[in-house]
Amino acid sequence: MSTQLISSIRVGIAGVGTVGTSVVNILRDKFSTFEQQFGVQIAISRVVVRNIDAVRNCDLTDVVVGAELMELSTAEDVDVVIELIGGVEESLALVRESLRNGKAVVTANKALLALHGDELFSLSKEKGVPLLFEAAVGGGIPIIKVMRESLAGNTIHCVAGIINGTCNYLLTRMANEGAKYQEVLADAQKLGYAEADPTFDVEGIDAAHKLALLTRLAFQQSIDFSKITHFGLADIITDDFSIVKKMGYVIKPMSIAKQSSKGIEIYVFPALVSQATLLSHVNDVTNVVQVFADRLSSINCVGPGAGGDATASAVVADLVEIVHAIHNDSLSSVYTPQLDERKQQAQMVDFEETEHAYYLRFQMEDKPGMMKQCASILERFDISIEVLNQNEPKDGENTVSVALITNNVRERILQQAFHEIKKLSGCCSENSSLIRVFQI
Ligand code: NDP
Ligand code: HSE
Repeated sequence: MSTQLISSIRVGIAGVGTVGTSVVNILRDKFSTFEQQFGVQIAISRVVVRNIDAVRNCDLTDVVVGAELMELSTAEDVDVVIELIGGVEESLALVRESLRNGKAVVTANKALLALHGDELFSLSKEKGVPLLFEAAVGGGIPIIKVMRESLAGNTIHCVAGIINGTCNYLLTRMANEGAKYQEVLADAQKLGYAEADPTFDVEGIDAAHKLALLTRLAFQQSIDFSKITHFGLADIITDDFSIVKKMGYVIKPMSIAKQSSKGIEIYVFPALVSQATLLSHVNDVTNVVQVFADRLSSINCVGPGAGGDATASAVVADLVEIVHAIHNDSLSSVYTPQLDERKQQAQMVDFEETEHAYYLRFQMEDKPGMMKQCASILERFDISIEVLNQNEPKDGENTVSVALITNNVRERILQQAFHEIKKLSGCCSENSSLIRVFQI
């Protein structure tokens, strides 16, 4: 893009759904402020949607509304493309072509960047046009900017946090209100938190996409998305919320990437989090990202992790950075994530070889010797019990719930012991739980 004659920046927006609508509204509110601040006019020249006749909750006066997605990548009246359609194939085609044609791109699409980041970031570098993605992780939290700029003097060794608002909202309401999973999920969809396909949220895929991006920034290495282990919420049983509470924990949807001596450990799972930590108080749609680094120990960035306005706030921040760069004739110097030349592809540790403490719960017949058998299996695998909680049988029932927390154990070993205990005569195998405990 030639910057010499530009006195106004023309924006093309793909997608006017939850996030796109808020972006249009924020820009309309801020047009004159931005013009005063940057001396450049920002105008929305075009938007592209699937259904051009649908009523939108934003003002599209003087904006060309079309349905031909790829037109944005070639349109003469578009300098910056904002991609907010989601999905992967169509968004990839749009972002790729826009960059090839020298248009700066802003996207909130973590799935796209987790799967095609290598190609798109190198294209952005080659063409000297930015590809910014603040909204792709943590909604409104400016975590990308913090990691790429504010922590430059540090070596990061771990990034962990709650980075899916839908799952946090679900677990918070299930724990606090005993709300039903399907009802809460429907609410998350109504509030605009959930992905178009909500299984991406509840199966941990969305968090894994975001974690791939955070890991790339933290360790400057390319992450093979298919090797990220992710567990969803399907195995959480209602009884567990009250039992873990008595043991001093809450259940949170955790995403963790850490550098260990064997390589990078990277996984997403619901985990027990101590009630004594900040994480345990991060509720509803709020996200938190904790970064552990050599110079400043750790920092926590907390804020709204999903929803139109919060996410649009991050999209607009990226746009403003681009506008500023265009105004200063320095577009090619806007940040692109770089890979460490010496170790471009991350060495990822096999999940079975990672170590965790585990919360295990079994529903067992209330008869002598059951607990002893369970303990002797654990002993055979060299697993110790750090905390034990046994509930009395409910009226009219002859089973008890036995919950325990283990020491640190290798995943592969723990799974073998867990399966042996579930096979014991008198253990209701279908009513048992295994939840990992979060610890750094
Ligand atoms: P929505 O489903 O609400 O909106 C998608 C928009 O894209 C709609 O306007 C739709 O048109 C349009 N669209 C979809 N496919 C096409 C296509 N092929 N051609 C033209 N237009 C198309 O999604 P969100 O706003 O919730 O999410 C957008 C992106 O932001 C996703 O990548 C998502 O992961 C990301 N994101 C979302 C957050 C949130 O809280 N919602 C938070 C952080 C990131 P139409 O309206 O006509 O159907
Ligand atoms: N579906 C995502 C979430 C949106 O619930 O966190 C924000 O990326």
